[in-house]
Amino acid sequence: MIRRRASWLLLLAGLASAATAQPSPQRQADTQRDYQATLARMGLAALRPGADGQHPDAPNAANYDEARVGPAAPLPPLLRGWDGKEIKSAGQWTRIRRPEILALFDREVFGRVPATAPSIDWGLDWSETRIKAGVQVVTSHYTGRSASAPTLGIRLDVTLPQKTRGRVPLILELGFPEGSHFPGLRPPPSTGPDWTEQVVSRGWGYAVLVPGTIQPDDGAGLAEGVIGAAARGQPRRADEWGALRAWAWGASRAMDLLTRDRRIDGRRIAIEGLSRYGKAALVTMAYDPRFSIGFTGSSGAGGAKLLRRHFGEQIENLAASGEYHWFAPNFLKYAGPLTSAELQVDAHMLIALAAPRPLFIGAGTVEHGDGWVDPRGSFEAARAASPVYRLFGMPGLVGDSWPAVGETRASGRIAFRQHEDGHSNAPNWPAFLEFAANRWSANR
Ligand code: GCU
Repeated sequence: MIRRRASWLLLLAGLASAATAQPSPQRQADTQRDYQATLARMGLAALRPGADGQHPDAPNAANYDEARVGPAAPLPPLLRGWDGKEIKSAGQWTRIRRPEILALFDREVFGRVPATAPSIDWGLDWSETRIKAGVQVVTSHYTGRSASAPTLGIRLDVTLPQKTRGRVPLILELGFPEGSHFPGLRPPPSTGPDWTEQVVSRGWGYAVLVPGTIQPDDGAGLAEGVIGAAARGQPRRADEWGALRAWAWGASRAMDLLTRDRRIDGRRIAIEGLSRYGKAALVTMAYDPRFSIGFTGSSGAGGAKLLRRHFGEQIENLAASGEYHWFAPNFLKYAGPLTSAELQVDAHMLIALAAPRPLFIGAGTVEHGDGWVDPRGSFEAARAASPVYRLFGMPGLVGDSWPAVGETRASGRIAFRQHEDGHSNAPNWPAFLEFAANRWSANR
């Protein structure tokens, strides 16, 4: 099963890089150069190696055994401010603790958006009318451009029912353009309506934002995309944005456009993503309160999973040359002189930044190859985030017991569902859409 997980991840890694094509030897060399230069600027010698997800017999093999998780370092306090005072109300959370935590994520994890970030103008390139799930829909193909970054071309495709009664809710996916799949591989066999068909059948709209067109997905790409444009030839500062923050920033720019569209209900726009894009969806929820619901799938380390838990991917993997570009340079020190135990934030705080808005956390099972993302680590993080929802007088994740596979734990504002398959959001879409429908109708 571990082998199956490895092949899934290879497929996913391939899919993710499909947006930017397979890195050439030159690109790989540029990534290594930037990685070494980043370490040098940070005064960091070699970092600790990550868990080995490919070789179960390796001495540092990733742990997939609940019995071997061991005691985790205590989680940093959610409801105590820097001054040591307890946070006792939703008002104090919003005024005091939330900004403190956001500042920590900015500085130590995802990086802050520099003032030089380009401004984006969306242009409509072309539209097409199609029938989807028996409904006539119109898809508008947009490109986001910037006068200060002429090579930038952010791709966003928005599909809405042609005939609408009032403004429609919309699901924004961070993902691959509709219909695309990894070159050379056949698309997975269809087992019923896909997520776009499910969305359209509800009379809603959907949009796909292609993260690789906001920020390329490798270290070499830090000289390109919006991060490169903002940097103006300078190396990233220790607290400046990595790709996850850049992708989330791109989702906010898409939101700017979507809320200007009179066919769309700006109060009912969701953000969704899988894996690295699931991390970015969660970061989007944390930073942009205009998104009213989130669906983070198999987001794992750097997403909804507690970094302090010794299961699956570890902080040292995130800080290695294949993933460091997702984060601020400051984050790398937690795989060197410091450890995850010294990080003043963890995933429960990231989830809590979404409060009181509803959030659906999904994953597959360890047995079906999703152990790398540590599904249980996301569940524990969601439980630990729930006191913030309660401050707002709302239940967060309801129930302390570990849910059965296929059970949708959704009576609170945080939903959790571990589906019966691997590294995919597909089996969780019906449950997420039901959750969104219930939450959105309850709020109206
Ligand atoms: C790798 C990485 C994960 C990431 C995943 C993906 O496995 O270690 O953190 O979520 O790729 O995005 O496919």
